[in-house]
Amino acid sequence: MKTSILALTLLAATTGSPALLAADAENGRTLYRGYCTQCHGLEGDGFGVNAPDMEVAPKDHTETAEMQARSDADLFKAIKQGGKAVDKSVLMPNWDANMSDDEIRDLVAYLRVLSNTGAK
Ligand code: HEC
Repeated sequence: MKTSILALTLLAATTGSPALLAADAENGRTLYRGYCTQCHGLEGDGFGVNAPDMEVAPKDHTETAEMQARSDADLFKAIKQGGKAVDKSVLMPNWDANMSDDEIRDLVAYLRVLSNTGAK
């Protein structure tokens, strides 16, 4: 059992797939608090301190139905490459220069917790 989990984790790591097998939602929460809440809000509901001044509202990450419609790969891409890469606003910055793929996977895992959509 342990061996197969390790094998899957290694597979996810080596293929660079956004699989959440090894993701750490708790670390994602810490990262979210540090980098995302100024726009998306402390509760992830889109009401960060910057929000009133922005032309496009930051996504409400607690919207279960909408977040359910996003695959992990979609969320991963939005965070890594920015809003433009997923046809969303350029006001959503890209984080590829500041975060590793593992950290981005942790953030996606935390978004699943915030939106109550589980890992899929
Ligand atoms: C400067 C403000 C700002 C910051 C900081 C920011 N975002 Fe965003 N984000 C936005 C905006 C604005 C959108 C909405 C774009 C739209 O609806 O067109 C967005 C959209 C998103 C989406 C896409 C949602 C969807 O509809 O599919 C994800 C995922 C996301 N943000 C995650 C994050 C994460 C994780 C962080 C922290 C690492 C972060 N954002 C930091 C402004 C921000």
